Amino acid sequence: MNTEDQKKIAAEKATESVKSGMVVGLGTGSTVYYALLRLGDRVREGLDIVGIPTSDGTERIAVAQQIPLTTLAAHPTIDLTIDGADEVDRHLNLIKGGGAALVREKIIANASKKILIVVDESKVSRVLGTNFPLPIEIARFGWEATQTAVNQICSSSTLRLALAHDRDQPLITDNGNYILDCHFDGIPAPDQVELQLNNIPGVVENGIFVNRADKIIVGTPSGIRYMEGRNA
Ligand code: A5P
Repeated sequence: MNTEDQKKIAAEKATESVKSGMVVGLGTGSTVYYALLRLGDRVREGLDIVGIPTSDGTERIAVAQQIPLTTLAAHPTIDLTIDGADEVDRHLNLIKGGGAALVREKIIANASKKILIVVDESKVSRVLGTNFPLPIEIARFGWEATQTAVNQICSSSTLRLALAHDRDQPLITDNGNYILDCHFDGIPAPDQVELQLNNIPGVVENGIFVNRADKIIVGTPSGIRYMEGRNA
């Protein structure tokens, strides 16, 4: 099974936990995409859910899939969120934000009773921060000063640039901010680093998710395996 197949089986497995009547957090990324397609099929077959998207991109896909949407204002508690991750450790800590949606993803995670993370096998790592740079969303005002402060904690960081026609321009998030991608030689104490980074003025949020996931559904070349935690 190639990586794309691994993503698909993990995402589709997660959708089996979605039942009628649920408020569902809709994550962002190429793995969750397969879950959105499956949920769209099920909605058209009669599944009665409302979704809260974690990004403008996910909102567009959900609308195209005819998944009814709501807001956190109308539904402050989310029954189940399905989201992806960029790196996962054996304690179910995560690095997220490769798709620049980490702020809304963390807000949605915080409002969720249950969180399923869907990944392919390449995302699993022994220590966070060894395979993927940590995304940090920062305010545009004074961003150079914020980067200098962030670089006291990580070994180096780069301002993320936009793709395609905006190449060489900084990427602007759905919230109107910049993203720094921060390099570490591993993050052995992610709970501490998460707090340290968020204590820097100008940092809006960082992509470390500690003790948030209930279950990681990993698509592997030989099928699905689970990593379980919190409420599993
Ligand atoms: C979005 O900001 C991210 O947190 C994604 O959930 C993460 O990057 C995983 O994306 P893929 O499934 O595309 O790898």
